[in-house]
Amino acid sequence: MAYPSRNYSYPTRSSSRSSIHYLILLAFAAVLVFKVDVLISQSIFAARRRASTSRNFVRPTYRRASSSITGFTNGTFNRNFVLSWGEERGKILEHGELLTLSLDRKSGSGFESKKEYLFAKIDMQIKLVPGNSAGTVTTYYLSSEGSAHDEIDFEFLGNSTGNPYTLHTNVFSQGKGDREQQFFLWFDPTEDFHTYSILWNPKCIILSVDGKPIREFKNMESIGVPYLKGQPMRIYSSLWNADEWATQHGLVKTDWSLAPFTASYRNFSAEACIWSPRTRKSSCESTDSAKSNSWLTEELDSRAREKMKQLQQKYMVYNYCEDPWRFPQGPGPECGSKSKINRQSNSNNNINTNANNNDNIIVPRKPRRPRRRSRSKRANKVAQID
Ligand SMILES: *[C@@H]1O[C@H](CO)[C@@H](O)[C@H](O)[C@H]1NC(C)=O
Ligand SMILES: *[C@@H]1O[C@H](CO)[C@@H](O)[C@H](O)[C@H]1NC(C)=O
Ligand SMILES: *[C@@H]1O[C@H](CO)[C@@H](O)[C@H](O)[C@H]1NC(C)=O
Repeated sequence: MAYPSRNYSYPTRSSSRSSIHYLILLAFAAVLVFKVDVLISQSIFAARRRASTSRNFVRPTYRRASSSITGFTNGTFNRNFVLSWGEERGKILEHGELLTLSLDRKSGSGFESKKEYLFAKIDMQIKLVPGNSAGTVTTYYLSSEGSAHDEIDFEFLGNSTGNPYTLHTNVFSQGKGDREQQFFLWFDPTEDFHTYSILWNPKCIILSVDGKPIREFKNMESIGVPYLKGQPMRIYSSLWNADEWATQHGLVKTDWSLAPFTASYRNFSAEACIWSPRTRKSSCESTDSAKSNSWLTEELDSRAREKMKQLQQKYMVYNYCEDPWRFPQGPGPECGSKSKINRQSNSNNNINTNANNNDNIIVPRKPRRPRRRSRSKRANKVAQID
């Protein structure tokens, strides 16, 4: 019985009086049930609101880019991106050629590309949060939607002053990730802008820093590794707080007295096959564009691969291919059979001494992307910006 027990003690004397009482009781119960209902929905609402104002999980609010107010709607960032969450914390400046994201105690911020791509070669210059960036995470990645999604990640895990940023990378194909590789950089990424690039074509994915390949994920469908080739992806970037895990396993918390934290972006360029959701075709499917798209068949040659391996020996601090603790059955087939040998040859290197120690990996946790509004709302807002 859902009715409060109090109702049962209601007196019943004569039949006519008891039916009146019964009616009163019914009305009373109805009011009670209604009240409880309101209470429940109010607390659900409050919980949602808390979730949506929590630091990491802010509902995107599409709005006009700040620079469009001043009339400049033709800059690179205006043309290619929308500030997707964090309200005034994201800004498009300098005639649309500079974008800044900031993070304060209340929220982070983010942007995403207007278009979806099915293969792309993209470059972005990023200058990360300087000084004590502990607890902050700056992401720059490609992702498709849905549960079996594809994703290519650059994530920059902040650190306390004087300690190195960790560049975290990952590749998801059809929903499967767990392919983390982490690096320290050979420069201070907060001092100046540096170029972070993703080449994604049907043959391979290459992540580069200042034009130097640091990671390669080849199309290895032939040995049963799903490849990222069927789902269009959007570019996303965000600056958010994750001090419960990000810096030295959550030991070092964000110093909010230093807020707002700011990361800057400039000089975005892309060669890309643009996906049309309407025709469900990519712009590269037309024959005339195929010739000029030499990046679609670009790969590392053996010399470039050798250089990449040298960089990895020096700067890679975690490699999922060499983590028997996490993957006791062995890593995915894409790691090849040589990963054990690499591990031994790496163990002399001082940065790599801990590379096989599971304590060394900090795996970013979800959720790290804000929820999105419906397509149609987004489309309206994008149209406004255009
Ligand atoms: C954008 O338009 C303004 C005014 O029409 C012009 O001064 C500016 O050079 C343009 N910028 C770009 C990047 O095209
Ligand atoms: C921060 O610096 C410490 C000490 O150098 C290092 O162990 C850690 O990997 C760095 N990065 C993060 C994200 O904690
Ligand atoms: C902007 O990027 C292009 C190619 O990605 C590069 O050639 C150029 O030097 C960059 N500009 C600056 C100011 O770094």
